[in-house]
Amino acid sequence: MSKFQPGVLAPVPLHGRYLTFRLKSRVGARKALRALSDLADGDNCVVGLGQSLLRALDCTIPGLHRFPVSTRKGAVVPATPAALWCWLRGAERGVLFHRSRAIQNALAPAFVLDSAIDAFRHGSGRDITGYEDGTENPKGRKAVTAAIASGMGAGLDGSSFVAVQQWVHDLARFDALSTKTQDNSMGRRRRDNFELANAPASAHVKRTAQESFTPEAFLMRRSMPWSDATRAGLVFVAFGRSLSAFEAQLKRMTGGEDGIVDALFRFTQPVTGAYFWCPPLKRGRLDLSALGYSLDG
Ligand code: HEM
Repeated sequence: MSKFQPGVLAPVPLHGRYLTFRLKSRVGARKALRALSDLADGDNCVVGLGQSLLRALDCTIPGLHRFPVSTRKGAVVPATPAALWCWLRGAERGVLFHRSRAIQNALAPAFVLDSAIDAFRHGSGRDITGYEDGTENPKGRKAVTAAIASGMGAGLDGSSFVAVQQWVHDLARFDALSTKTQDNSMGRRRRDNFELANAPASAHVKRTAQESFTPEAFLMRRSMPWSDATRAGLVFVAFGRSLSAFEAQLKRMTGGEDGIVDALFRFTQPVTGAYFWCPPLKRGRLDLSALGYSLDG
């Protein structure tokens, strides 16, 4: 089994920090990625490469393409591509702060930091609305099958694709809903996480029930709540062996299948959306052989 970045399947950490970078200079990009590989072990920092970066390096990763947008009223989904994504994971926010400085410095010859979002674990792994998030994630072998590419060849096996969206919640609007409407929006009872069999078709878990797709659409969700001075929400992060499970789910959430929009959109909306390819590991470092070069030298 090829080595994947362990942070893809590991439990959500206490603290997270998401960095996105844009490419400033093609010339130093390879050297900068080599420097990043010295700092990011796939566990303390999961790394994803965007299509624009791969293009600039004259590389193609089969299966990586543009993030889908939705312009449907009440279910707007934007695409905000980036060259490089780092998900810093840890137990202490100060450590993450200093690690992000080190990464930023290492990448500085070729990349510019575009955004940094601090995220945190809420209780046992809840969205900031209080609902348990991640309950139906696949486990054990099924998690590996859902999230890690295989049978694609050396340099690609062990990799993952990731969909990342920053969602901003309207908590005042959410708080104004009755408990019953809140539970029906999610399709689960917040009090005890009980799945509501009679929830409406717009309920989030009815929209996204992984077994209900053909083929089944299993994902490894590793989302984390975030907040700043005035806003809060969820950084939705879903890893897959390909992007098709995410796309099938997003299509149904936005009403693209049957016109029914996911009830989540009543109180939250995505403000970013991007895809990245997360390379496998080789001898504890990012394996970029699929890009036609090694980081060893
Ligand atoms: C603010 C955005 C979102 C919030 C707050 C949210 C929250 C939740 C919650 C509370 C659950 C139920 C427990 C669980 O199984 O994890 C859930 C399930 C799920 N969500 Fe989301 N979610 C969001 C966005 C998305 C998006 C964008 C997708 C995919 C396009 C997605 C896919 C899923 C899937 C696959 C399940 C499990 C469904 C099942 O098989 O039962 N979610 N989500």
